[in-house]
Amino acid sequence: MIRARIISTGSYLPEKIISNHDIEKIVDTSDEWIVERTGIRERRMAADDEAASDLAYHASVSALKKAHLKARDIDLIIVATVTGDMPFPSTACLLQARLGAKNAAAFDLNAACSGFVYGMHIAQGMIKSGMHNRILLVGTEVLSRFIDWDDRSTCILFGDGAGAVIMEPTKEKRGVYSTHIYSDGSLSDLISLPGGGSRNPCTRETMLKTLHSIKMKGNETFKVAVRTLEELATYTLAENGIDPSQLSLLMPHQANLRIIQATAKRLNLPMEKVFLNLEKYGNTSAASIPIVLDEAVASGKVKDGDYLLLEAFGGGLTWASALVRW
Ligand code: ACO
Repeated sequence: MIRARIISTGSYLPEKIISNHDIEKIVDTSDEWIVERTGIRERRMAADDEAASDLAYHASVSALKKAHLKARDIDLIIVATVTGDMPFPSTACLLQARLGAKNAAAFDLNAACSGFVYGMHIAQGMIKSGMHNRILLVGTEVLSRFIDWDDRSTCILFGDGAGAVIMEPTKEKRGVYSTHIYSDGSLSDLISLPGGGSRNPCTRETMLKTLHSIKMKGNETFKVAVRTLEELATYTLAENGIDPSQLSLLMPHQANLRIIQATAKRLNLPMEKVFLNLEKYGNTSAASIPIVLDEAVASGKVKDGDYLLLEAFGGGLTWASALVRW
């Protein structure tokens, strides 16, 4: 049986740190409120000359280096992002050019915070079917450019970053065991970025209405996220005949500590088995899970044979999970 396997990981976080205390100076909020309600203490912000493809480039170079591969060894590049450099060409094509990955096809994928796990779904399908052999999958976001810094309910949440993985076929008893993707477009108004597309192209009016920044009904989103992710995690393990006690690490999308704690509680999983970095980076949308993966692997917390559960929830609405045996 052929499965897709992650052979290497990489990530890149911009240098500039924005702490909760920095945000206290911009809007009426406090470090205490942000930590208590979200678990976030600081986030990264891309430099003025950095766009999503730049962050993606650094994460990809790191993943290629660790795999001892050249960019020309890649035959497909998928970039999950909602903050690409521009509407087109795709950020994936810009990344392909910068890497010199001349043997790769390249496209972007938009499933907001679930984008990376959606990408795993596509990548593993392509590898299992034999259509592609070595895929570079990247999640990259520069959300700081799409934040309304007057809106205290959203500006505290998001950060910039990128993570990348390289996937290959394997006949071993490891790799991606299953992926599950879902959407509910009827709840699209819960999280959106309404301006800049063909519905509300950029005009003076859309600028004044701040339509070019993220809008979120946080509390409603929170409730749907908790319910959905609890069900998704339980279902994904059951589908694979894995008891939660066999799970080595839960790798959740880093949106809100309370959402993550609820999922862990439902699985009866101690928090030591949950990888967290939202304290440092906040919600980096599609980049969140590949950054988690890279940091978990680098920290030595992931061992051969470990069962890892990846799960995400985001705009669309979309939600997705993957069970991986390392
Ligand atoms: N500082 C101080 N007070 C604040 C802040 C702030 N930064 N933000 C909101 N408040 C206030 C509100 O104004 C409100 O005050 P009121 O009761 O006087 O009206 C009060 O705090 C409670 O507001 P809620 O929105 O109900 O706060 P909640 O506990 O729900 O926390 C949060 C808000 C953190 C946004 C939470 O709802 C959340 O994390 N939601 C889910 C986010 C998520 O998972 N998104 C999905 C991924 S994003 C993507 O796909 C791009």
